[in-house]
Amino acid sequence: MKSPPRSLEIEPMRVEDIPVVLEVESLCFPTPWPRNAFQNELTDNRLAHYFVGRCGDEVVAYGGLWVILEDAHITTIAVHPRHQRNHFGERLLVALLEESIERGACWVTLEVRESNIGAQNLYKKYGFTIVNTRRGYYSDNDENALVMWAGNLKGEIFRNRLAVMKAGLD
Ligand SMILES: CC(C)(COP(=O)(O)OP(=O)(O)OC[C@H]1O[C@@H](n2cnc3c(N)ncnc32)[C@H](O)[C@@H]1OP(=O)(O)O)[C@@H](O)C(=O)NCCC(=O)NCCS
Repeated sequence: MKSPPRSLEIEPMRVEDIPVVLEVESLCFPTPWPRNAFQNELTDNRLAHYFVGRCGDEVVAYGGLWVILEDAHITTIAVHPRHQRNHFGERLLVALLEESIERGACWVTLEVRESNIGAQNLYKKYGFTIVNTRRGYYSDNDENALVMWAGNLKGEIFRNRLAVMKAGLD
């Protein structure tokens, strides 16, 4: 019998988390970010905010975003393949959206591979829509990126919906 999903503790990513994050990164993406990309985000980029999700002591998920004035950009989100489909990606997305709102963003955007239907479904569930296609954006296979967007983050409708969705996860 499948054991029930354990809870996910979401905390700011620390430099010490990078080795495990890189392991998950290499399992999740065809062109993983190198160590220095995460290092620079954590230590040099004041616009960047990164989080990890822990099951007990184990980092099993992470995500990050930039907030530039009213504009939030989700740069990455990933869940260890062994822990996918336990709503951990959803919990991280909620945390990133809450962080965006707290930091004053009014809208949020991201890029996703055209073939990545699972991720697109996750974003659509939280009110994102496809607004543009960047042709050949991914250099490994020339795949198109879909640009997805959610607006009016500070509006009552979005915040109430987010609260209801979050409560559903709890
Ligand atoms: C995309 C990703 C972060 C989703 O995380 P997850 O924890 O597996 O997904 P969740 O359990 O939180 O799913 C939440 C919702 O997303 C959608 N979803 C997630 N995975 C899906 C899949 N494989 N197929 C279809 N829908 C999916 C569903 O709507 C789901 O809601 P439901 O369970 O009520 O149907 C995870 O699959 C992952 O890390 N993938 C590899 C890296 C990646 O593609 N990152 C996104 C880059 S843009």
